[in-house]
Amino acid sequence: MQLPAGQDGLGNPSQRGNTAVFTISPAGSRRRRIGKRREQVADTTASEKKRRQRIIGLWLLLMGGMLVVMVVLGGLTRLTNSGLSMVEWRPMTGWLPPLTHLAWEQAFTAYQAFPEYQKVNAGMTLTQFQEIYWLEYIHRLWGRLIGVAFAVPLIFFLARRWIDRPLGWKLVGIFLLGGLQGLLGWYMVKSGMVDRPDVSQYRLVAHLGMALIIYGAILWVAMGLLMGAAPAAKPALVRAAARVKAVAALVLLTMLSGGFVAGLDAGYAYNTFPLMDGDLIPTQVFASSPWWLSLFEDVTTVQFMHRVLATATLVVVLILRWTLVGVPMPASARRPINLLTAWVLVQFSLGVATLLSLVALPLAALHQASALVLFTLALWSAFALSVRGNRDERVAAVVPKKAPA
Ligand code: HEM
Repeated sequence: MQLPAGQDGLGNPSQRGNTAVFTISPAGSRRRRIGKRREQVADTTASEKKRRQRIIGLWLLLMGGMLVVMVVLGGLTRLTNSGLSMVEWRPMTGWLPPLTHLAWEQAFTAYQAFPEYQKVNAGMTLTQFQEIYWLEYIHRLWGRLIGVAFAVPLIFFLARRWIDRPLGWKLVGIFLLGGLQGLLGWYMVKSGMVDRPDVSQYRLVAHLGMALIIYGAILWVAMGLLMGAAPAAKPALVRAAARVKAVAALVLLTMLSGGFVAGLDAGYAYNTFPLMDGDLIPTQVFASSPWWLSLFEDVTTVQFMHRVLATATLVVVLILRWTLVGVPMPASARRPINLLTAWVLVQFSLGVATLLSLVALPLAALHQASALVLFTLALWSAFALSVRGNRDERVAAVVPKKAPA
């Protein structure tokens, strides 16, 4: 078999007269055909892998979005004092609200046996009860929907073997944490059903903290799938990544301290800024005995610490941005850091506005939602700095090199 040189690039060229020809043995041609097919399969596998990673990553982002809605719904439930209206916990069977007048009467009678009705809402009508019931019902229903929206695709991905073992364990772990969060929510609600019609601030912070851990984990895994993860190659970037991670931890801490403010209704006191009762550092701060108990149980200290941590967050983010001027980094990392810098100003201002307005519902809800945006930007910045190269480079790394022509 003779072919003009350069026509298909296969085989060894040999010269016959003036015409360059390729001599191909049948065995060599078969080997090359198999090699080519393998390359094509590898190419398809790489693009299919990329497609699956994208689908799973986007699904996880959707889950993150649903969690943000859940946290905001939780905040609204608390701010409208609706959280203690459902006095039973039926995670499997409680999908439906009361559907008949009789069922509503029964739910209302059950509520009347608890301190919130007796001490705060005595004389409330059935219509008023229904108003507070709906928000808590929607909050719980949304939690169930998240569970289903997480579990069903997860089972599909596992059954179709789209997910390898390490990722599978991570996702199953997140799902279990979600179940634990439901339990923690009920544990928190129960604390408001004895004596004092207010949930324990410790349990509220635990519930908020768990929501943030789950949200952070989902976001991190999603970014790993959508952006790819690899250690930063340059020492300046490694240092920057460590600093941004510390900032993310500070944002988390400030958010948890906000949970204590919310849990103790401490936003209804000292409604001035920056002074508290005329002082920068109020005299009653750390007045409990032992002193450290004030950090969790004293309205003055809890609000003071939230101001201190919020100011520290603001200052540290601004310093971080300043220290990163001149550090060469990919645009994919610079973007979230710039957004983080802008957002910390928004968040701080919303906090002050919430305080000055005596916790007006729209501002308080915005302040809470905006805290999640800040946390998201901090995690995104940390992740983007921990990433080497861009997506195309990483994808190129998993596609086998073509055999030389
Ligand atoms: C980086 C800055 C800040 C972050 C990340 C942050 C975060 C939070 C979070 C997560 C909550 C809890 C919301 C809830 O569980 O419902 C909260 C509550 C609160 N924060 Fe901030 N905050 C910041 C700055 C401020 C500032 C500067 C002030 C005022 C001086 C402030 C005042 C409040 C008040 C009054 C509440 C209670 C609102 C309520 O009862 O719903 N925050 N904050």
